[in-house]
Amino acid sequence: MSPPADDRLIRRILRVDHGGEYGAVRIYRSQLAVARWRTPRLAPFLAEILEHEEAHEARFRALMPARAARPCRLMWLWGVGGGALGLLTALLGSRAVLACTAAVERTVHVHLQDQIRAVSDRDPELRRTLQEILAEEEAHLAFAETRLPQGRRGWLEPPIAAVTEALIWLSTRGESARLARALDP
Ligand SMILES: [Fe+2]
Ligand SMILES: [Fe+2]
Repeated sequence: MSPPADDRLIRRILRVDHGGEYGAVRIYRSQLAVARWRTPRLAPFLAEILEHEEAHEARFRALMPARAARPCRLMWLWGVGGGALGLLTALLGSRAVLACTAAVERTVHVHLQDQIRAVSDRDPELRRTLQEILAEEEAHLAFAETRLPQGRRGWLEPPIAAVTEALIWLSTRGESARLARALDP
C-alpha cells in the first residue's frame, strides 16, 4: 500500500516528530559535551541515547517526501530550546540530567502512543516506525527513572515537561492537543 500523500494528520505527525527528534539530538549532544567533564558516569548512556535520537530523526525525515511532508518551520526553536535545556541541566549535574531525560521521554512517550492509535491502518509503515521508536524511548525513560531517587521526581521535571509540551503544541499549532483530546475515552 502506498503512503497517503493527502493525509494532513500524517504530515503533522511527521513534522512534529521530526522536529522533536531534532530537539532531542540537541539536548543529548549538549549534555554529552558537558557530561564528559561534569558527570562522566553518565557519558556512555548519553552517547548511546544520542545515537538513537539521531537515527530517529533520520527515520522520520526519510518518510517525509513520499507523504508530501516538510520539516517544521520552527526547527530553530527545537534546536535552540533543546540545546539550552541540555546545557542547563548538564551544568546542574547528574540529577538534573536524569530529571530532564525522564520528563522529556515521558512526554514523548504519551504522544507516540496517541499517534500510533491515530495512525492505525492509515499508514502501516509509519505505524511500524512509531512502534519501533517508542520501544527505544521506553528504554531511555526506564534508564532515567530507575536512577532517580524513589518517590521524588524533584522540582525540575514539571517545568521541563511543560517546555517540551509547549514546543510540541507550537510546532503542531495545537494539533497534538486536539489529537490527544479526540483520543481521550
Ligand atoms: Fe527519539
Ligand atoms: Fe529518547
